[in-house]
Amino acid sequence: MTTQRNILVTAALPYANGAIHLGHLLEHIQTDIWVRFQRLRGHHCYHMCADDAHGTPIMLKAQQLGITPEALISQVRKEHMADFAGFRIGFDNYYSTHSDENRSCSEHIYTVLRDNGYIKTRTISQLFDPEKQMFLPDRFVKGTCPNCGSDDQYGDNCDSCGATYSPTELKNPRSVVSGATPELRESEHYFFDLPAFESMLETWIDSGSLQTGVANKLREWFEQGLQQWDISRDAPYFGFEIPDAPGKYFYVWLDAPIGYMGAFKNYCDKHNHNIDFDAFWNKDSNAEIYHFIGKDIIYFHGLFWPAMLEGAGYRKPTNIFAHGYVTVNGEKMSKSKGTFIQASTYLKHLNPAYLRYYYAAKLNNRIDDLDLNLEDFAQRVNSDLVGKVINIASRTAGFIHKRFGGKLAEQVIAPELLAHFVDASATIAEYYEAREFGKAIREIMALADKANQYIAEQAPWKLVKDNATLEQAHQVCSLALECFRILITYLKPVLPDLAQQTEELLNSELTWDAISVPIFGKTINPFKALLQRVEMEKIEAMVESSKEDLAKMNQPQPTGPLIDEPISEIIDFDDFAKVDLRVARIVKAEQVPDANKLLKLQLDLGGETRQVFAGIKSAYQPEDLEGRLTVMVANLAPRKMRFGISEGMIAAAGPGGKDIWLLSPDDGAEPGMRIK
Ligand code: MSP
Ligand code: ZN
Repeated sequence: MTTQRNILVTAALPYANGAIHLGHLLEHIQTDIWVRFQRLRGHHCYHMCADDAHGTPIMLKAQQLGITPEALISQVRKEHMADFAGFRIGFDNYYSTHSDENRSCSEHIYTVLRDNGYIKTRTISQLFDPEKQMFLPDRFVKGTCPNCGSDDQYGDNCDSCGATYSPTELKNPRSVVSGATPELRESEHYFFDLPAFESMLETWIDSGSLQTGVANKLREWFEQGLQQWDISRDAPYFGFEIPDAPGKYFYVWLDAPIGYMGAFKNYCDKHNHNIDFDAFWNKDSNAEIYHFIGKDIIYFHGLFWPAMLEGAGYRKPTNIFAHGYVTVNGEKMSKSKGTFIQASTYLKHLNPAYLRYYYAAKLNNRIDDLDLNLEDFAQRVNSDLVGKVINIASRTAGFIHKRFGGKLAEQVIAPELLAHFVDASATIAEYYEAREFGKAIREIMALADKANQYIAEQAPWKLVKDNATLEQAHQVCSLALECFRILITYLKPVLPDLAQQTEELLNSELTWDAISVPIFGKTINPFKALLQRVEMEKIEAMVESSKEDLAKMNQPQPTGPLIDEPISEIIDFDDFAKVDLRVARIVKAEQVPDANKLLKLQLDLGGETRQVFAGIKSAYQPEDLEGRLTVMVANLAPRKMRFGISEGMIAAAGPGGKDIWLLSPDDGAEPGMRIK
């Protein structure tokens, strides 16, 4: 056994405003396998994660739902934890970035950076929503692409032509939040001085320890020139207020990676400081720290994060391990095709072991995308796990009970086969350590093939029929189960449930050290079915219900009249009766020179006429209105406007712009009739 290592492992912190899906799970399964492998080897390995709970999207989603952001993130965290538990992701702590520990770590790091001169301030102009009274992140501005003229494009890049630009370059920009036309406003922002860390980052990129794909990307950005990083956001914002700057908040990506520390701090504190937080994060620490991340967030983890740590006097991560994106059936996960599959949907239909195995079988240590081909998935799980691995036990364990009193043979036969199984451990360990899980699985399956071949040659089902060969049958079955034990030990990081069932079956704990310690002579328990085949129908049902569950996924994000404008407080009938609503005929409608929104209307109330200025110019032509009936608030106090007196209001619905709809009574109603 090598010396015991102290290892801290994290996966990226999922945003607290959406469900966990099969994309997230690639990362968490990869991380979990690596952590379980380290533990199986006897190392101290701590597995931390949390929800990333801050930022504008979470703030706005909570508003839409009519709940506090705290209520939203606590609900989502529960769901995330249940999903991960369902896939046997064995976190030591699954925390939240909205925590006291993260607040104090963030404030501390910021303060040290500031005192060391790494925080600058500068006034910038940014789009501001005058209705919502907030600055708009790029993704919350939409408009016409300045490059190709496509409508309805986001403020940072065009889906249609791929151009990137700043939101101020969009034509006809509008706020996604309110629909209002954004204005440019100035505000003072805080910046982290990334360029000050140029030489440190260069050494880090060239150190040779990063993945080639990661180093290449970082070098590309590095060569484009490092920029000051804007780390502040103005209120209203859901996050931590900057200590010396009231009304300014840390940008979510500042406190998110610090959330790794926050989760670990919370874990250390809960464990009575048996684990020393500082021993992991101090500059001279000899503990190892690894961040598993997706390829989309390499910039944050490969440049900002090491620079922040360095600037604040902490050690840098030992490494960051990036992976590619999950595609399903060769394409980006698609909501309409039902291949945007949530963790909870998967778990309703299929055993988590299948996905853990399939991902493991296809993972390597590069940042290539990984395709989950659903037919290949079924085929691979069935042929490898059920057809090869489980088959070894199911063809032999029964005889041990039926014919040999549950006791394995004492005597070792075919020692070369067994040696082969034991000797593979070094190679398999190297592959796991290097995150070449696919290669590890290939080795393991090659061993399974060997065991099956041996069983087929020996045919214990024939040997048991003749007393002369009965003892040989005993030995063959015992050896097969010994091979099975070693195989499942190798698979234990990938398939913890199967490992546990096997431990029960064999009455033995599966550890790396025990690989070379055979269990011959031991009494085992009766064999129970270990794993079912995957049925294609279940996969199809999962895809179907993914389409339905989408409706639910979008539920945390509903829009609609009742959400945008909740029903007002209850009133009495008397309150209602005060409003005198009448059927009115629009007898005349005309444009008002100089008015942007208003039309001037003459309304006949059945004898009397009223003049009303109505803000419906964007939706109606005057000539289309003349002669029609509508509903008027007849007893509203007259109001003097720039263009004349308005003696009431007409009733209309809709958000505004072209979307305004006047009310009209059914045929037969007469001007002047009261609405009650
Ligand atoms: N909150 C940030 C991470 C902050 S870490 C300090 C974030 N959250 S996320 O929910 O969008 O993504 C979390 C992780 O899931 C990221 O590493 C991301 O790459 C990964 N994945 C999200 N979709 C994915 C796929 N389709 N495939 C593989 N991984 C993907 O980013
Ligand atoms: Zn475009």
